[in-house]
Amino acid sequence: MTKKIAILPGDGIGVEIVAEAVKVLECLRADFGLNIETETGLIGGAAYDAKGHPLPDETLQLAKESDSILLGAVGGYKWESLDISVRPEKGLLGLRAGLDLFANLRPAILYPQLADASTLKPEIVSGLDIMIVRELTGGIYFGQPRGVRTLDNGERQGYNTLVYKESEIDRIGRVAFDIAMKRGKRVCSVDKANVLECTELWRQVMEGVAKDYSDIELSHMYVDNAAMQLVKAPKQFDVMVTTNMFGDILSDCAAMLTGSIGMLPSASLDINSKGMYEPIHGSAPDIAGQGVANPLATILSVAMMLRYSLNEAAHADRIEKAVNNVLDQGLRTPDIYSDGMQKVGTAQMGDAVVTNLKKLVN
Ligand code: IPM
Ligand code: MG
Repeated sequence: MTKKIAILPGDGIGVEIVAEAVKVLECLRADFGLNIETETGLIGGAAYDAKGHPLPDETLQLAKESDSILLGAVGGYKWESLDISVRPEKGLLGLRAGLDLFANLRPAILYPQLADASTLKPEIVSGLDIMIVRELTGGIYFGQPRGVRTLDNGERQGYNTLVYKESEIDRIGRVAFDIAMKRGKRVCSVDKANVLECTELWRQVMEGVAKDYSDIELSHMYVDNAAMQLVKAPKQFDVMVTTNMFGDILSDCAAMLTGSIGMLPSASLDINSKGMYEPIHGSAPDIAGQGVANPLATILSVAMMLRYSLNEAAHADRIEKAVNNVLDQGLRTPDIYSDGMQKVGTAQMGDAVVTNLKKLVN
């Protein structure tokens, strides 16, 4: 059966990097028999400009009827002064909520070829393989009430609400524990239980989930310490599970351990493993349109899509092999460049992955 993939490039470098990922998909379709069709839709600032809303109905509809979604990035200077309700980021958050994509998987893996690109010493990061499981449809990102109000004395006050139901904590906990079962069997749950009641509950529910997984070693860490440990001794971690906002912050931090945020893919899954796939970096308006962005995180997001949602692990392996080969060949976009390597742009990097893919035809 033909699988449908919604392609949502979005804004800034999203457009450039998704174009390269589409080349990879097209190669798998034409040369390796991957049975897919694609349809492109508008999201973020581009959707706002064309339709007046960052998540037009037809885009949500397309995402719902597709088997998987590939997203680039949203946002940019141009839309920063818009009301928050129609800012590009709302398009992304609306998709996550509208499709109930509560489980965000953000693997931080160091490619050995890039050990020199990390700002940390090679011995601290070599062999790094962490999976951050971030709750994605709850917490302070979505909690009500929220807004800016004017107090009796005329002063304005901003407020947001951190809320989690037991069921929301339990289901993200189970995702993390299931993943850990297939890896190093260790889960570190990150919270701020010393200050925030909501995350005290988080800790209790994680303890409850652990009772169903006797093989897993569960530990807890406060988020401030977790941020410190990530840069001090990151290899102590196997799977980390945390709230929406803590996961947002810690995953950027973990990304830099691997040399560049331009290398990290992500999956956002619903309860049936339907998913949206995107690089964890943003739209990088400072370098948009220059053809220098690293498309590998997006290309690796396609590999995750094939593995987690489309049940096409052999195709995922091919992409990952091709990316490895390109790195072996010394090709580097500016974000991962080091002395002696060959500096290439976005399209050259995408083309090199496709060339290496084609070489894998048996
Ligand atoms: C991410 C991004 C988004 C988030 C923004 C663009 C809304 O930073 O996916 O990590 O905060 O979740
Ligand atoms: Mg982020």
